[in-house]
Amino acid sequence: MNIPRYDRGAIALHWLHAILVVGLLGWGLYMSDLPKGPERSFAIGLHKSFGVVALLVVALRLWWRLAHPVAPDPRLGALEQRLAGAGHIALYVLLVATPLAGYLSSSFTQYPMKVFGLAIPKAGWPDEALNAFFNGAHKLFAWTLLVLLVGHVAAVVIHALRGQPVLVRMLPARNRPG
Ligand code: HEM
Ligand code: HEM
Repeated sequence: MNIPRYDRGAIALHWLHAILVVGLLGWGLYMSDLPKGPERSFAIGLHKSFGVVALLVVALRLWWRLAHPVAPDPRLGALEQRLAGAGHIALYVLLVATPLAGYLSSSFTQYPMKVFGLAIPKAGWPDEALNAFFNGAHKLFAWTLLVLLVGHVAAVVIHALRGQPVLVRMLPARNRPG
């Protein structure tokens, strides 16, 4: 059976984004345990910088995805195809909402917004209540994203165990025509 695969751009963006997001989740967990001080400030600064990159990457990914449609996996039933599609949409929603809430939370502080030392525009002004609101949303979205990602990887493994290696769709083909 001819399995429709994601194109090279989508594959490259998927794995770059996956590394970034898993790194941000792990780094977020690590830095939240640090005591107040220069080490914590540095860790948060790095998290914010890579977080803004993740926001740009998801925008690029969505633009690429809309311009390059991919057919669903024909080995899956109609219901499974719908579930996979819905799961991917939920992932995209959280992949946008998480860094956006982080950016908004940091926008409502007194600190400048810096990406690898370079100041970028903020979307707000110092306001503790709004900062706390978006901070709470950022944490909620990040942990929901983690749960969805565990489900995402579990789905890939379950399909492989059932003899439907869906992972090949997201791997570069050796003999891709053209
Ligand atoms: C070991 C980790 C991972 C594996 C094995 C994996 C595997 C896959 C596979 C096989 C697909 C294609 C599903 C299909 O057949 O349609 C896919 C799609 C997707 N993955 Fe992952 N993934 C991983 C991690 C991640 C992470 C960390 C993210 C978050 C950035 C992510 C986000 C997505 C999204 C949004 C899609 C939907 C693609 C689209 O249709 O536009 N994945 N993944
Ligand atoms: C996909 C991107 C992102 C992911 C997955 C992510 C994930 C996380 C996680 C897991 C935490 C720790 C939550 C906790 O303590 O329970 C965290 C904290 C934080 N994130 Fe993000 N983040 C992302 C993007 C951003 C962005 C773009 C910014 C700001 C520009 C940001 C700012 C922060 C800040 C300031 C904290 C510390 C909150 C606190 O300890 O009060 N994050 N993030």
